[in-house]
Amino acid sequence: MAKAPARQKDVVDLLVEQHKEIKELFTRVANARGMQKRALFDNLVRLLAVHETAEEEVVHPMARREIANGDRVVNARLREEGRAKRDLAELYDLGVDHVDFDKKLAALSESVIEHADREEKEEFPQLRRRISADQLRKMAGAVRTAQAAAPTRPHPMIGESAMANLLAGPPLAMIDRIQDAVRGWRESGRRR
Ligand SMILES: [Fe+2]
Ligand SMILES: [Fe+2]
Repeated sequence: MAKAPARQKDVVDLLVEQHKEIKELFTRVANARGMQKRALFDNLVRLLAVHETAEEEVVHPMARREIANGDRVVNARLREEGRAKRDLAELYDLGVDHVDFDKKLAALSESVIEHADREEKEEFPQLRRRISADQLRKMAGAVRTAQAAAPTRPHPMIGESAMANLLAGPPLAMIDRIQDAVRGWRESGRRR
């Protein structure tokens, strides 16, 4: 018997998968040392930039319009994301070898994980109920566009991390670039 084709992932599937990856990466960065720690932290910065930007540009605006208490829920999430961005930029400037890095990383990890849990409880289930499956699948394009603008990739060689870091630039510059790409994606959808 032919196997049924796998259901195409929607935006909530991709974001929940990324929440798991983010949690795992925080643990891996915390347990790593030296160049490996730097490379893993690089990947964490990229993944957080991709994830939170796709949410801010496409998912939260939809939630604000569609879910119960949309303004209250979304404003709280945006405040948390703003703080996380600021803390991430601070960690980046500090560098993985700084004596305060691990303590600040642990604090950021805790707040980002709480933030993700709130999205999964207060926001995503309501989006699934109120938005059509077709629309949610289309919105996955925002996450894919953000990923393409700042690919997270493994660092097979130690030397690559310095290069990748150089190309990516600091978190806020990376977020700007991803924002432009996701806004471009959104605009091209409107024109179709
Ligand atoms: Fe978020
Ligand atoms: Fe999230």
